[in-house]
Amino acid sequence: MEKEEIKKSYERLLIGNQSWAAEKLNQDPNYFKGLAMGQNPEYLWIGCSDSRVPANEITGTKSGEIFVHRNIANVVVHTDMNLLSVLYYAVEVLHVKHIIVCGHYGCGGVIAAMSNKDNGFVNNWLRNIKEVYEKHSIELDAIEDLNLRENRLVELNVMEQVCNLGKTKIVQQAWKRRELQVHGWVYGFDNGLIKDLNVMVDELSDLQPIFRFNL
Ligand code: CO
Repeated sequence: MEKEEIKKSYERLLIGNQSWAAEKLNQDPNYFKGLAMGQNPEYLWIGCSDSRVPANEITGTKSGEIFVHRNIANVVVHTDMNLLSVLYYAVEVLHVKHIIVCGHYGCGGVIAAMSNKDNGFVNNWLRNIKEVYEKHSIELDAIEDLNLRENRLVELNVMEQVCNLGKTKIVQQAWKRRELQVHGWVYGFDNGLIKDLNVMVDELSDLQPIFRFNL
């Protein structure tokens, strides 16, 4: 790419921002004043970094409605300070009512984790998904079609991450107060629709006893 082209691809965003801001003000002169007052989102979204899965756009929601955390393949790692800080703030300060783990079919992270390819530094992150595979290897190995097996791992990965949320003290405390539901979704590029995996968890009883804290 030529230097001038690179500059253009960057400037396009700033130009886009200007027309977007003008359009918002045109629709509602107080739009930004309202946003500046603060946020009160009801949802925490834990999704994939994939550029094709923007939380607000695919759910038809507006700025201020969803608190968002994204990483490669929407993984909940209990030592991830970034995720834990977002989770803590969302639950304890913003008091979100729902946490949604949203994966997507065709997820590059999940497909990479299913292969034996060396993905450099990302190997360390994909290891989390390889462990999901290992846990469900009997079911997954029985699926002959590679595409169907990838799709199933995408779903199982979401379900495992929902469980991982339930294993945190942050979520267990909120459950005790009966304030929070955790959901697992998968988004598909084939029709743009979200599939609810119905793994909604809002009680300790769904969790293996070893992971329950005495709170
Ligand atoms: Co992905």
